[in-house]
Amino acid sequence: MKYVRRYVNNLRTSSPSKTLYDTDYNTLMESINAYPQFYRLATERYSCRKYSSRPVDREMVLAVLDAARLAPSACNKQPWVFTVADKNLNPELHAAVAASYGREWAEEAPVLIVVSGIHSQAWHRADGKDHTDVDIAITTEHLCLAAASLGLGTCWICNFDRERLSQALNCPDDVEPVVIIPLGYPADDSVRSPRPRKSLDEIVRWEKF
Ligand SMILES: Cc1cc2nc3c(=O)[nH]c(=O)nc-3n(C[C@H](O)[C@H](O)[C@H](O)COP(=O)(O)O)c2cc1C
Repeated sequence: MKYVRRYVNNLRTSSPSKTLYDTDYNTLMESINAYPQFYRLATERYSCRKYSSRPVDREMVLAVLDAARLAPSACNKQPWVFTVADKNLNPELHAAVAASYGREWAEEAPVLIVVSGIHSQAWHRADGKDHTDVDIAITTEHLCLAAASLGLGTCWICNFDRERLSQALNCPDDVEPVVIIPLGYPADDSVRSPRPRKSLDEIVRWEKF
């Protein structure tokens, strides 16, 4: 709680946010008391590129998918499909998915989840913008954070051969594989490479461009 108070006080002094000024302090404290856990989870998640061969139980896979299912989507269209390629249950599918990326570390992950977008189901704005990718990004990050909360490693993979992956999954025309998420227990010697983030000063604007 001390941590959150310090955080809010910092915000108060550095950012003239109306929302914070307008909210009763105790109400604010109650509403954000999960913030330290959330912040810790967001800090602990990293792109894991070395997995142990320990299988991941079906319940764990379903738990992360259940968290992904709760993600918001434009007009609540939920235009997504999760294909689970488990090395132990379906080695051929796992190998075919891994081959579309071609990196040994990904092949070693016990589970590969392909998150595909269904363009024909997604919301398109009046100007035609297709929101499939936005929805897929949100649900996928729910999945990754849920995995981190269970001690499981993940990594976003988009640099795959799209044709090859679509063929491996037998995707209909309106279904696009958007991201592969390896899921597994991080190897004991899995290292987290330093990936510094931009500071708030660099990315937050309180005025127009
Ligand atoms: C949309 C997207 C695509 C990515 N594609 C790949 C990829 O193909 N291969 C890879 O090794 N990492 C990929 N990454 C992981 C990023 O390199 C990584 O998230 C970033 O460097 C920050 O590091 P961190 O996840 O450890 O915090 C991707 C991440 C995102 C969000």
